[in-house]
Order: sequence, then C-alpha cells, then structure tokens
Amino acid sequence: MVERSRRRRADHASTQDGKRLFRVATRWKVLATTFAFALIGPAGALLPHARPLPSTTRAAVTPLAVLLPGSERPFWQPIASQFEREHPGVRVDLVEGPQSTDLRENIYTASLLAKDPTFDLVYMDVTWTAKLAAAGWLVPLDGFVSPAERLDFLPSAIAAGEYEGVLYRMPVRTDVELLYYRRDLLDAARLQPPQTFAELVSAARRLQSPPGVWGFVWQGKQYEGLVCNFLEVLSGCGGYWVDPATLDVGLDRPEALAALSFMLSCVRDHPVSPPGVTTYEEEESRRLFQDGRAVFLRSWPYAWQLAQMSGSPLRGRVGVLPMVHAAGGRSAGTLGGWGLGISAFSRHPSLAMEFIRAITSPAGQRALCAPTGYAPARKEAYADRELLAANSFLADLERLHGNAVLRPPIPRYALASDILQRHLSAVLAGSERPASALRDAAGEARAMLAGSRAASGSR
Ligand code: GLC
Repeated sequence: MVERSRRRRADHASTQDGKRLFRVATRWKVLATTFAFALIGPAGALLPHARPLPSTTRAAVTPLAVLLPGSERPFWQPIASQFEREHPGVRVDLVEGPQSTDLRENIYTASLLAKDPTFDLVYMDVTWTAKLAAAGWLVPLDGFVSPAERLDFLPSAIAAGEYEGVLYRMPVRTDVELLYYRRDLLDAARLQPPQTFAELVSAARRLQSPPGVWGFVWQGKQYEGLVCNFLEVLSGCGGYWVDPATLDVGLDRPEALAALSFMLSCVRDHPVSPPGVTTYEEEESRRLFQDGRAVFLRSWPYAWQLAQMSGSPLRGRVGVLPMVHAAGGRSAGTLGGWGLGISAFSRHPSLAMEFIRAITSPAGQRALCAPTGYAPARKEAYADRELLAANSFLADLERLHGNAVLRPPIPRYALASDILQRHLSAVLAGSERPASALRDAAGEARAMLAGSRAASGSR
C-alpha cells in the first residue's frame, strides 16, 4: 500500500511536472527555431527540480543532470547519492519529466536542437538511438566501453544502443511486453492459460463481469505504448511494420488488417476491454488490474513486482505469459528498455560516463532493479541472489526476452511512430475504418521513408 501510494504520488507529481516541462519544451522549440534561445539562458534556469545553490558555493559544485520519468526518481536517488559521496563536489540533478516516452523525447529533442548543455545524460528509450545519433547529438561511447565489456550485457539491449556500428547508449534496464493473467480465476473456471487471440477473448468473455471486472486491459491511447501493443499483435499474426533492412512497409498487408481487427474487436461489438482503454497508458491499465478489476493485462515486467508486494490483493494470484498469437502464429513481445547516452553538449562527458558506469555496475543494477522489478540489462544480474530474492520472476524474464520483437531502428522513427499512432487511434475511436486507415498509414510511411532515403542519398 505504502509503495503504491508512493508511486501514485510520484506519478501525479510527475504528471504535473511533465505538463510544466512540456510547456517549457514547447517554448524551447519556438525559441530555438527563431534563434532566440540564447536570450533566455540555459534550460537549467527553467527546470523545476534543478537545485540552485547559493552563489558562494556554486563555483565549487559540478552539476550532472539527467531528465527521467518522475516515477523513477526515488529509485535513482540512492544511486545518485552514493555517486555524490564518491565524487565530492559533484551534484547529480535528477530532473523529473513526464511518464510518457514521447513527451520526454520532445523535451530532450528541443534541448539538444538548441545545443543546450543542461542535460549531461540522455535517458533514452530503445527507439531514440538512431535519431539522436544521426543528428550528432550524442557522444560515441566506443572509446569508453570496450567490446569485452559489452559482452556483459544482454545483446538485444546493447544492439538498441548502436547506430551504424557505433555504440551511443549503454543499457540500464530492458523491457519486454508480457501478458499477465489472474491465475486464480482461470484455475477456478478450469481454464488453461490462453495461447491464441481467440482463446484470450473467449476466456476474457467467460470471466469478465463488466463494468466491475473487465476481460482484457491494455494501452490504447494515442502514444508510443499503442504502437508497442499493435506491433506484438501484428507479429503474432505473422506481419511486420517496417523491415529495417529493406525499409519495406507491411502495414497494408492482410496480417496488419487481422492485427488491427483483433484490437478493434476488443473494444467494439462484444467488448472485452473497457471503453476507456483507448485513453490508457501503462499505469491506468495496471491499476485496474491491480485493483482486481481485470482478468488479463498487457504490460511490462515492472507490473509483476507491484502485483506481488505485501498488501497487494493479487499476491500469489497472477500468472505471466508471452503475448498470445494467431492460430498457427508465434508469440511476440515488443522489446522496450532504457539506457543512458551522453549529450554532445555536456560540459562533463567523462563524469557522465562515470555515472553510467555506476548505474550499470552490478551494484547499480541491484539498487535500481531490486525495489522496482525492472529487468536488468546486465546478464549476471539474472543470477544475482539478492535480485532473485527480491524478484523470483527474473529467471522467467530472461527466457521471455527470446520472444522480443523490435521497433524499426531508423533515424525517423518518431515520424514513423506518429503516423501509425494517428491511424491506429482513429480506428479505435471509430473515426477511420481499419483497411483504409492501414492503407493510408502504409502510404504515409512509404512517402516518409522515401524522403529519408532521398535526403541521405543527397548528403
Ligand atoms: C516502456 C518501454 C519503452 C516503450 C514505452 C511505451 O517504457 O520500455 O521502450 O517505448 O514503454 O510506453
């Protein structure tokens, strides 16, 4: 309970801060494009959590700043404090940003575009690497991290930090999409855990009693999470979004139509998902499940530990599966995860690298992952006694990473995602029909990718 209310407070606070920061970011964008940024000074002056020091001590302190989701701040704080103790004269500023990856990416983009040195460290989603690296906004890490050191981390997590063969981001934690289910309810009804979309819907229908208890909750809001949900359903239908090797777009193929039709069927006709699902991000859907108001939940590994904590009504009652698939298809879970890069405009790149070493060290991984249930990026953490004692689920997680499906690692990923988000959301809201929405999304994605090819060809 204590943990939950702490997270709620953190979520609420971060939403408020997020709104504030987003207003700040929007202002930055405008200012940057009109070359007026310099007039307002560095962004640090605008940030709500930067701790100004009295002018007498300011000269002696080296600040090292990173923007992160508000909910993660309490868990980074002990690592940051330890780092400060080991580096006298250094102050780590953990700046609370919004929860959603899209909004934080906007803030970082606005800051980097303006060559603003405020954020030394860039806490990056798996999908940001190509864009930020291609723009020249990140320090290459090849000189800092040897090939042998990289072998200590999950290969998919390291790969997510590379662009054109160069490492730009060290993985801090990884994520893979999972399907949580109420094992107690399925057992009582003598139902086997589902493997296919049809079995999921049938079990959800049988066990739900809306509006009190819904069958299946997921993330249907127009944001990056919706793309993650769609991608794994699409893979489970045998389809693809953008082939990273050929840049071929698969959105107007029958598999994509089958995937979107499945998602739409969850909210239409004989729904198994609440109407509000089209406005849910991760926490809205997880809370419903956590409160015992949903049978199935699609979410990331962090949801497991919260379900098991003392006082949770779900303790001992939840099972986890790889995401279900079409009959004859294969399970897929979208690969997520977070890592740190160093801003090309940081005034302290070596110090920033030392912080990266601290948080990705065995002790750093323990400190971050034990209280949160985050999936570590370092391989040996999966056999770490302390971590396993805090979260026995780790052993399964390593295996579940085998089903991971990647979002395309292209520099214009944010645009590709935006196109898809808009059309998926319009279909779920009932304002576009699936086949024409996917045709339009495919056309827009092809035009955008052709534009990028032409731009890189003319460089
Ligand atoms: C999680 C994943 C990240 C993904 C995001 C979508 O934070 O780690 O990769 O983009 O969720 O909401």
